[in-house]
Amino acid sequence: MQIKPGDRIVILTGAGISKESGLDTFRDPDGIWARHSLEEVATPAGFARNPELVHAFYNARRRALADPDIQPNTAHLALAELEDKWPGEVLVVTQNIDDLHERAGSRNLIHMHGELLKVRSLHTHRVLEWREDLTVETPCPDTGQPGGLRPHVVWFGEIPLEMERIGEALERCALFVSIGTSGHVYPAAGFVREARLFGAQSVELNLEPSEGSDLFERHQHGPATEIVPAFVGELLAQVSS
Ligand code: APR
Repeated sequence: MQIKPGDRIVILTGAGISKESGLDTFRDPDGIWARHSLEEVATPAGFARNPELVHAFYNARRRALADPDIQPNTAHLALAELEDKWPGEVLVVTQNIDDLHERAGSRNLIHMHGELLKVRSLHTHRVLEWREDLTVETPCPDTGQPGGLRPHVVWFGEIPLEMERIGEALERCALFVSIGTSGHVYPAAGFVREARLFGAQSVELNLEPSEGSDLFERHQHGPATEIVPAFVGELLAQVSS
């Protein structure tokens, strides 16, 4: 890999990086969309039709994330170490709504699909930290009106967050790495094309070839807790040498 210290690195992550921490992916056979209807719990129409069902879905995921057994794994920690030690910008763009990257120490981080531990006021659009259950009765802190809050999560049909900042980072990076994502959902699945258009090298680290595997120049397949620390070690070996 012809990347040198000082070059910029963009890393896209998906549910696969959190799987070994104990959080489900979406499209694996035992995944979330095998047990829940995406249309009912992850679309604006689903929320309008049955907000109680949507709140129950995210309340269960918020409670699961609060389980002390759910901790960042060595893949999250390796990315935080890379950000710390790599003499150049390292930006993690995650599709995940868990907080495991933050808890591992990543700081230069974008949650393009929002965050499970935040809610948004439907009246003022203010985003606030939220760790409790949310119901249709919960009063909005800004207006006091019940039913004024929704999960701060990007649903299908909605625009992902910070797309301009992501686009700029893809244009400037020398290396684009995709970790633990099936390459099913756009715009994230198209980031590799954008990065390569501007000359970046591209690597896929995933349990198995993703939908967009052919778009990557290099691939490593295996569990994230094995292949991500090894990959980060390879990059950092260039720094110490
Ligand atoms: N290590 C590495 N990769 C893994 C592991 C593991 N231990 N376990 C599973 N994977 C891989 C799977 O092979 C799959 O390619 O992680 C990927 C998970 O794919 P999805 O379940 O589709 O999750 P993701 O790509 O993050 O989904 C993207 O879709 O439903 C929406 O908003 C949701 O952000 C999500 C988006």
